[in-house]
Amino acid sequence: MSILRGKRLKDQPLEIAKFTSSANTDQRIVEHVISINIAHTLSLLREGAIPRSDGVKCLKALLSLDPQKIDIAVSDEDVHVTIERLVSELAGPSGGFLNLAKSRNDQVATALRMEARRALANIALELCDLISALLTKAKAEQNSLMPYYTHLQRAQPTTVAHVLLAHAHALERDLERTFFVLKNVNLCPMGAAAGCGSTIKIDRKRIAKILAFDGVLQNTIDAVATRDFVLDAIFVASSIMSNLSVLCEHLILWSTKEFNFVRLSDEHVSTSSAMPHKRNPVVPEIIRAKSSQVVGKLIAAFSIVNALPYGYNLDLQELNALLFDTFDVTQQSLKIATQLVQKLEFLKESLDRATKDHSLCSTDLAEWLCVEKKIPYREAYHYVGDAIVHGDLKADKAQTLSVLDPQKSVQKRATEGGPSKLSTTFQIRALSAKIFKVKRRIFVKLKIFDEVPLKISQEAKKEVMNIDS
Ligand code: ARG
Repeated sequence: MSILRGKRLKDQPLEIAKFTSSANTDQRIVEHVISINIAHTLSLLREGAIPRSDGVKCLKALLSLDPQKIDIAVSDEDVHVTIERLVSELAGPSGGFLNLAKSRNDQVATALRMEARRALANIALELCDLISALLTKAKAEQNSLMPYYTHLQRAQPTTVAHVLLAHAHALERDLERTFFVLKNVNLCPMGAAAGCGSTIKIDRKRIAKILAFDGVLQNTIDAVATRDFVLDAIFVASSIMSNLSVLCEHLILWSTKEFNFVRLSDEHVSTSSAMPHKRNPVVPEIIRAKSSQVVGKLIAAFSIVNALPYGYNLDLQELNALLFDTFDVTQQSLKIATQLVQKLEFLKESLDRATKDHSLCSTDLAEWLCVEKKIPYREAYHYVGDAIVHGDLKADKAQTLSVLDPQKSVQKRATEGGPSKLSTTFQIRALSAKIFKVKRRIFVKLKIFDEVPLKISQEAKKEVMNIDS
């Protein structure tokens, strides 16, 4: 029988209990829930809100729990009830003091934020690795020419490095987004209780601090009823996945016979059961589809919170699986995309062949005519356009100008952020330096987050020893 049903409500049929329970996703937050309960009990003791001996019995019970071994019974409804039940089983009636001045509402919001911050920091690390892989490849392919496309039509000459760096820059903004989201995630709801605080004096800032939060949420209703941090997290994951999907789409196209710009490693392709010559780009295809699913989860999450009245409603529980799945898919996709990039083999011959198309340098010629011959740009543009139509745009005619040479064209494009070697070298250096710094920052954060259970149990042990001695 659930401790929440007591004498008041009849036990629910298993089917209903299962339907409304969050047992299947709560395993993920067990460790956080235990830490939160310890932090809260320490706070109750500090304020003298509960008898010392009862508080200490609760602490002892909480310290004896192994998060890996917690079995969330369906009749418990969720992990929050499970922990309270277990503490009561171990500490007897003293366990009944555990839920003073807190509720499942502030507790679940806190646990979700603790899980989200850890997952986001790990995603940030994976992002760094992917960006580094792109930078390494870019460095190796700084001289490899490649057509740049608009409307999927050949447009201008560029280099493989320049295109890979475009992907790296987009992902670097995702890294910034992740940090921004992390900042809003890492605020503590504890003390908000069911949504209007409690009559007990609770030092919210202190609880937040020992749980390694950067601060507290400033409004108790907002603290328990709002899940914009979930939306933010799924949004940042959607942005990452969408950028991965674009990269994967490129790899799928470039590895076709038609482009033949790149060869994916054997481990990232599979063959057809019917056509033995095939090398199907299955890994980027799956990432492309996973990206669509994450965007779907974002829409699903928005639809759940849309027009939901304050404060807590059980609808919010349905966000948890969306959030956790999103984290798992994104982290795994990033990891696999990194391996994919590391093993890419660019095919120089066909890249060169594709870039020898002189019309790729039509803009160069029009620019040259404008600057050297003082022909207004639009007139020069029409002149070059006509020459292309009439097949007059030949390299030998313009050779003296060397304007139609794609390699020279690329090197002359010294525009900041452009494809010239100077510019791509600058981009590679700047991004590498940034990634180096950011990675260190993430390691520091992760260490702080991961040490919470240990530090908190040390504090609790001190408290227990105080009373035992
Ligand atoms: N299992 C719930 C969740 O994951 C915890 C909060 C339940 N609160 C409540 N008032 N029923 O969201």
